[in-house]
Parts: sequence; structure tokens; C-alpha cells
Amino acid sequence: MKKIFTIIIIGIIAPILFMALIPAKNIFAPKDGTYIVIAWNDLGMHCANQDFSNMCILPPYNNQSAHVILQGTPTTMPEVMGPSSGVTVTYEIPGNTYSGSTTNTDKTNFWVYAQHIFGVTLQPNIGLTGLGLTGTMSDSNNYFHAQGIPFTPLTDANLTTPDPYQLTLIKALGAGSVVLATTQSVIPVSNEINCVSSGCHSSEMDILNSHASVSGFDIANKPILCANCHGDNALGMPNHAGIPPFSQAIHQAHGGETNDCYKCHPGPNTQCFRDIMHTGGMICQDSHGSVSNVGSSIAAGRNPWLQEPSCGATTCHGSNYAEEPGKLFRQSKGHGGLFCSTCHGSPHAILPTSNERDNVQNIALQGFSGTLRKCEVCHGYIPASPGPHGFNPLGIRPVSSTIPPQNEILQNYPNPCSYMTHIPYRISIQGQVSLKILDLHGNVITCLVNQQLKPGEYIAEWYVSRIPEGAYICMLSVDEILNLKKIFVVK
Ligand code: HEC
Ligand code: HEC
Ligand code: HEC
Ligand code: HEC
Repeated sequence: MKKIFTIIIIGIIAPILFMALIPAKNIFAPKDGTYIVIAWNDLGMHCANQDFSNMCILPPYNNQSAHVILQGTPTTMPEVMGPSSGVTVTYEIPGNTYSGSTTNTDKTNFWVYAQHIFGVTLQPNIGLTGLGLTGTMSDSNNYFHAQGIPFTPLTDANLTTPDPYQLTLIKALGAGSVVLATTQSVIPVSNEINCVSSGCHSSEMDILNSHASVSGFDIANKPILCANCHGDNALGMPNHAGIPPFSQAIHQAHGGETNDCYKCHPGPNTQCFRDIMHTGGMICQDSHGSVSNVGSSIAAGRNPWLQEPSCGATTCHGSNYAEEPGKLFRQSKGHGGLFCSTCHGSPHAILPTSNERDNVQNIALQGFSGTLRKCEVCHGYIPASPGPHGFNPLGIRPVSSTIPPQNEILQNYPNPCSYMTHIPYRISIQGQVSLKILDLHGNVITCLVNQQLKPGEYIAEWYVSRIPEGAYICMLSVDEILNLKKIFVVK
């Protein structure tokens, strides 16, 4: 069987590299100011076999991402650090310093069989993308990313009881490796793949034997990589004509036997589904359907791993809380160009979760668990304009409670503006208020307010540092009655 030399997990191609890790080096000194770093995992749980002597379903392969943000002030916006910012980000997992080698197999024997399974020679503790258990994240435009950390659930101190929720230590470094900010984020991994421990199969050899009649299936050539024949997007392995993709084969074949996801997914001990949706009473099937459905939806055209349930579905949270078009939650960005996971955590671990480790990061950032909702964490103060999804803890700041005689937009200040301008406006009747900025062709540039307001005088803020120079129209509508005013942006 031909070996495939690329691994795609979550749709990102990462060539298998066998180079030394690039040392942290800062060419530019980052700007002065207060930095924060926020990290997350892509899936909320990763699975890996522990014993690879018979078969490989999934190798040790974990992912962490991070945003580094220069905190804003009342006169500057927060800045998301990108490639030329002079910031580097390192990761380590305290208490978990090795995974294994061809001779050290007390955590897993993956390194003994990696050559046979994937056709590659791996150095001790180095995974399929060339990363180890400590290293420097690569800089992917405006976030930092480590793809393929070969991480196991066994800590150095306890080689018998797995710990699926270990914490990474992530450091954002400036010039001279000065620490700008640190955080801790869960790097979830479990080896609870329960074919045997569930009581369903008597042994892994029993599974292989029952498959022996399939042409080309050679038990003598074990360990067997199931994805060699069954296409698998998790491993970047292509589909083969006449052989169902792995997810389809596994779910369709077992759907008649069980509808318990934890028979295979981790699991009775790990309890990977632990988030706010779970404590709110939802079960896996509410999002994914039954075991049979997971399989039959692939037969009907669903692309496994790459087409999954979305928050923005009309029957769920609706369009104000939607992913970017055509993208999954884990790939989407929202407020401030930040990944959804920056504020919400990982899929299956949407904050707050019932596992205290998931909540550690946001408690450190804002003082309490749950969605990152304290504007000050990134802005340094509370902006008066709508933030994520239009949410603002201040409401829209009312400046007077006397009832104005008419709806109107007052003179904005400063005008012209280059960074931000205040737009005072008056509402004379209770109603649905929208305050929008349009260009001179009538295209909506942004919506500053969209909510029910009581009569009064208010101030909105419009941030224009990313807006091209020119004239714009500010449009106030109260129950469809319009008012207009011109605003000038100069640079
Ligand atoms: C040599 C290629 C090959 C390999 C390797 C392979 N399979 Fe299969 N598998 C097949 C083929 C072919 C079928 C039959 C498809 C059909 O009948 O439609 C199949 C069917 C299945 C089915 C469905 C059986 C049923 O009763 O419907 C499951 C489940 C399955 N394989 C699991 C696995 C697992 C787990 C592994 C790894 C241990 C694996 N396969 C490795 C080729 C392979
Ligand atoms: C018989 C074992 C088994 C059971 C039971 C099972 N799964 Fe899976 N599931 C797997 C395996 C193995 C994979 C990994 C497949 C791969 O590597 O592509 C997987 C992958 C998945 C995926 C990702 C691939 C895709 O199709 O998008 C989803 C989603 C999923 N399972 C949902 C569920 C849900 C929901 C349940 C319970 C209703 C469930 N599974 C029950 C074995 C199982
Ligand atoms: C800067 C932080 C931030 C980012 C980034 C962010 N959100 Fe939110 N999100 C919030 C806050 C704060 C709330 C609670 C305020 C509210 O309910 O409007 C929220 C609420 C939600 C809710 C719950 C709504 C409800 O009915 O309770 C969903 C769903 C959601 N966000 C999805 C997303 C998606 C999808 C993305 C990415 C496209 C995203 N969020 C990006 C901060 C963020
Ligand atoms: C996780 C960090 C983070 C949090 C929390 C956050 N913001 Fe932001 N916000 C940003 C970033 C980054 C930008 C983009 C700055 C830029 O475009 O230069 C931004 C931009 C803005 C803007 C400018 C217009 C826009 O939407 O791009 C406003 C207004 C704003 N935020 C309000 C809020 C409010 C209100 C809250 C609290 C409810 C909040 N933000 C919470 C990071 C954050």
C-alpha cells in the first residue's frame, strides 16, 4: 500500500518535516504596551491509540493556536499581532516532557511502529509534522499555531492513570525573549478508544481477523492503518473507489449495535462532551444525529470532519451568532478578526465547562469563567459602541433622559475624524433604532446600533482607523423613519 506523505488534520496541509525546530528569534522589537495571549485547542478533544502493535486509528497529534493582542487604551484599538510584529509564541506542557521513542514505550509504542505505519523515521518525542512537546508556534498571518504536537495523556509522574485535560504553558515573547504575556490552555487528549474496553470486541486481533476476508487485507503485515483503505480527512488520506470513508464504515456498521457515542469516543472516563451545551441538557445526538446518521449522512454526501453542525443554524443561535460562510466554528473569525474560540473556547468545550481546567484561562483573564465578555481585557476600557454580536455591557450610553422633540443625528465630533468619532443622536419615541454608516453609493459600511431604545439622547462611537478616507453618510432610522448626516474621514 502506498504511503501518503502529507497529513491533513482539520483541513490544513502540514508537510511532514524533519528539521530542527526553528529557534525563537525576534527581528523586530514589538510595540510597547500591555500584551495578552489567549490559546485554544481546535476540537475540544483529540484521540490517539496507545498501543500501535495491531492497528492505528489515530496517531498522537494535537493542535494549539493562540492570538497575541496588544491591549487597547481609550485612544487606541487593540492590535492583533501578525507576522512582522516581532512577537514569538512558545508552548510547553509542564509535567509532560516526553512521549516516547523506539526504546522508551512506557507512554505509547507509537515510535516503534511509526516507520511501518506511516513510512517515516521519527526522532524520539518528535511527531509527524516535526514538532516536539515544546517548541515555537508558527506565525499564520494574525495568529500562532502548533500543528501535530505528539502528545500523550500520561504525565511523567503518573504512567498508569491518563490525564486527558493537561494544561499547556504558552508564552508570548518580545525582543530578547522578554516575556510579554503567558497563558494556560487545555491540550485535550485521550487514548480511550474502547473497541475492547467497551466489552464489544474480545480483542484487537479479533477485529482484524473478522476483517481478513477483504481483498488486500494482510494481517501478517500488521500494524494496520485503517485509513490506508478507508479514506480519512482527519489524516489527509484519500478515498478509494468501492471502500467507504472510515467514518462512514465505522458508524454505519455499528449503528445497529449501539447509539452510545462513548462506546468509541472518549469516553466513560474522559467525558469529552463537557461544555455549556452539555450542562444545558443537550446530548451528542441533538447536534450530530444517531450513530447510524453520522454514517449515512456521509453516504448521502456529507464530507466527514469538514461538514459539521453550526451555531448559526436557524434552529440554533441564528445569523447574529453564525460562523463565517462555508466555514466551521473552529475555522471562523468574529469580533475584531479573532477566532470564535478566542472568546468561546473549543468545540465540545464551549465555555464555561464542567471541567475546571477549561475555565482556568478565562478566569485568569477576566476574573470569572464563561465567554470572554469583559471588553477591558482587550480594549483596556469599555468602549461605548457595540462589541461582539452587537453586545455592549453599557447598553448604548444614554447621555440625557429628557425626551427630545424629534429624532435627529447631532454633529459628530471630531469632524473630520481619523481614529474615532462620537455620534450623538436623539430619539423622541420608543422604537427599533438602527444607526448605520453608508458610503456614497449607499453600501452599508457598518451598523453601530440595532436595538429597541427608549426616548433620550445617546452617543455612538465609530472607529475609522481601517476606513478609507472620504465622505460617508450616517443614517438613523427609528421605526423606519430616516434621518441622515454626512461624516468626513481624513487620514
Ligand atoms: C485492505 C484495505 C482495508 C483495510 C486496511 C481496512 N479495511 Fe475496512 N473495509 C475494507 C473493505 C473493502 C470493506 C468492505 C466495504 C463493503 O463491503 O462495502 C471494509 C469494510 C469495513 C467496515 C464495514 C463492515 C461492515 O460490516 O459493514 C468496517 C467497520 C471497517 N471496514 C473497519 C476497518 C477498520 C477498523 C480497519 C483498521 C483496523 C479497516 N477497516 C482496515 C477495506 C479495508
Ligand atoms: C463504533 C465506534 C463509534 C461510535 C459508537 C461512534 N463513533 Fe464517531 N467516530 C468513530 C471513529 C473511529 C471516528 C474516527 C474516524 C476517522 O478517523 O475518520 C469517529 C469520528 C466521528 C466524527 C468525525 C467524522 C465525521 O463523520 O464528521 C463525528 C462527527 C462522530 N464520530 C460523531 C459520533 C457521534 C455523534 C456518535 C454517537 C451518536 C458517534 N460518533 C459514535 C467511532 C465511533
Ligand atoms: C471577542 C469575543 C467574541 C468572539 C470573537 C466571538 N464571540 Fe460569540 N459571544 C461573545 C459574547 C460576549 C457573547 C454574549 C453576548 C450575547 O449574548 O450577545 C457571545 C455569544 C455567542 C453565542 C450565544 C448566543 C446565545 O443565544 O446565548 C453564540 C452561539 C456565539 N457567541 C457564537 C460565536 C461565533 C460562531 C463566533 C465566531 C464567528 C463568535 N461567537 C465570536 C463574544 C465573542
Ligand atoms: C478578545 C479581545 C476582545 C474583546 C474581549 C473585545 N474586543 Fe472589541 N475588538 C477587539 C479587536 C482585536 C478589535 C479590532 C481592532 C481593529 O480593528 O483595529 C476590536 C474592535 C472593537 C470595536 C471597533 C469596531 C469593530 O467592531 O471592529 C468596538 C466598538 C469594540 N471592539 C467593542 C467591544 C466591546 C463593547 C467589547 C465588550 C463587550 C469588546 N469589544 C470586547 C478585541 C476584543
